[in-house]
Amino acid sequence: MELFKEEYAAKLLKAQTHIWNHIFNFVNSMSLKCAIGLGLPDIIHNHGKPMPLSQLISALSIHPSKTHCVNRLMCILIHSGFFAQRKVSENELEEGYVLTDSSILLLKDNPLSVTPFLLVMLDPILTKPWHDLATWFQNENPTPFDTTHGMTFWEYAGNEPKLNHSLESDARLVTTLVIEKCKGVFKDLKSLVDVGGGTGTVAKAIAKAFPLVECTVFDLPHVVEGLQGSENLKYVGGDMFETIPPTDAILLKWIMHDWSDEECIKILKNCKEALAIKGKGGKVIIIDIMMENEKGDYESVETQLFFDMLMMVLVNGKERNEKEWAELIFSSGFSDYKITPVLGLRSLIEIYP
Ligand SMILES: C[S@@+](CC[C@H](N)C(=O)[O-])C[C@H]1O[C@@H](n2cnc3c(N)ncnc32)[C@H](O)[C@@H]1O
Repeated sequence: MELFKEEYAAKLLKAQTHIWNHIFNFVNSMSLKCAIGLGLPDIIHNHGKPMPLSQLISALSIHPSKTHCVNRLMCILIHSGFFAQRKVSENELEEGYVLTDSSILLLKDNPLSVTPFLLVMLDPILTKPWHDLATWFQNENPTPFDTTHGMTFWEYAGNEPKLNHSLESDARLVTTLVIEKCKGVFKDLKSLVDVGGGTGTVAKAIAKAFPLVECTVFDLPHVVEGLQGSENLKYVGGDMFETIPPTDAILLKWIMHDWSDEECIKILKNCKEALAIKGKGGKVIIIDIMMENEKGDYESVETQLFFDMLMMVLVNGKERNEKEWAELIFSSGFSDYKITPVLGLRSLIEIYP
């Protein structure tokens, strides 16, 4: 009987911890946002060696009444893997803060910095709709974003350039990896249209790495307005649901997960038409999440689920597993596909007419 009670108490307390942990999951996101707001990664990086708390406090622009709180902020950021502590020098006991691989990826001047993406994703414009998720389940709006803001994400983004620019560093990161690991994908192409290519970060890198490929960035007119091309790169404004410029190959990076199955099929059919004008052959290169790609790794699976929810909340899109991708590909009239899982949570999927 005693044992039963003890087991029950342990279960109860474990359940309570689990619930509390989930109630306060946002503390990790907000502490990280605060770290960026205070410039912690750059300050610690610029110090050049482990930075003791006292020196960190002196370097921060904070109110004197808050200095005793910095240590507490650093504790959670160390716990969540964004900073670590090392001895300031071999012979001293004093410890200082250093960066980890994750905070290096948040440095302002790192061309691959995830900071712009972080600031946009944690901006109240995008966090408010999460509060309306339950309401949205009960109304007929297409997304919680619509419920909160009374318009689609894309209409809102038209007047908020920061939403478009937030993806540029991700585009740099992905392009670096793709050009290094999947050279063969682009090698023999004559032309490539980056559909929904935003401000052209990916296409610019491909145009530079493969000077013989004629690259086009195709996006909504207001996104590409006033952008200057180069020798083998041009910008074209339009709507991928209407028509896509003729080409040998089409890139769809982080596009398909924004849309429903019906909308994706429409986009892919337009891709197929654009390829057909150039003759037989060609391909579409998709870069997107392949769900269950990283079986067994708790953080990867959870992050993929986060993205799937994010697509539901912002844009009426979804992340897909291989079976769902195959259904889309074959329903749009394509005959075959090849998956190259070299981009962490995302994969490169080539699909052939
Ligand atoms: C999630 S962003 C991806 C941008 C870029 N491919 C990247 O990965 O960095 C989606 C892009 O699709 C564009 N887009 C949305 N609707 C579109 C449409 N109907 N026709 C063309 N582009 C569109 C948006 O303007 C935006 O640049």
